[in-house]
Amino acid sequence: MSESLPIVVANLKANLKLEDILSWLLQVGPAAQEFKGTVIFCPGAPYLITSQAEIQKNQYKIKLGAQDISKFEEGAHTGEIAASQLTKIVSYALVGHSERRDDFKETDRDLLLKIENAKRSDIEPILCLQDENTEIFEGVQIVAYEPKTAIGTNKPEPPEDAKRVLNAIKNKVNSAVLYGGSVSADNAKSFLDVNFNGLLVGATNSLNPQSFIAILKSL
Ligand code: PGA
Repeated sequence: MSESLPIVVANLKANLKLEDILSWLLQVGPAAQEFKGTVIFCPGAPYLITSQAEIQKNQYKIKLGAQDISKFEEGAHTGEIAASQLTKIVSYALVGHSERRDDFKETDRDLLLKIENAKRSDIEPILCLQDENTEIFEGVQIVAYEPKTAIGTNKPEPPEDAKRVLNAIKNKVNSAVLYGGSVSADNAKSFLDVNFNGLLVGATNSLNPQSFIAILKSL
């Protein structure tokens, strides 16, 4: 794995429009410069190209990620975004977020296809796990443990409980393991203290760039 740790992902979900995205990058860019780990920014798909241009122009130390990737390869799949279309735009893609598993009934078979497509296109998948029993596919180098009860609730899992799941995951695979679910500047460090390798920050504290910067500074 070539990423410097900790890895901190901002998953904007279906939030923010162009102006906010540009303002986000303008504010977080300089803070990311000071940060010793890796910042991965996952805006909505329509803003990936513009974000890439801004990041390159300003030489921000921010990597780009997609919030999802198609299980299909390029071709007759209206509305889908194939991994091959995202090559050289994003370095990462979230796969199997619980909102997608629930809203789109994504199955393990779907997720495996997404991961294979991502890898073939030089995109590193970040596989989201709901618990220690969630299937982890071979070759996945970054996973994110995101207990459903903690997502968007302002009720993070107590780090000691999350640590038990972290250890169960680490017993199975050699991947970097992130924690996600109501991460804030007040609790972020406590998850790294129990040995998580990074954080996945969703709508609760990634939409406001200052809240996200506060998380980076707390680590
Ligand atoms: P949250 O979401 O930070 O808003 O709890 C985390 C996630 O869904 O990735």
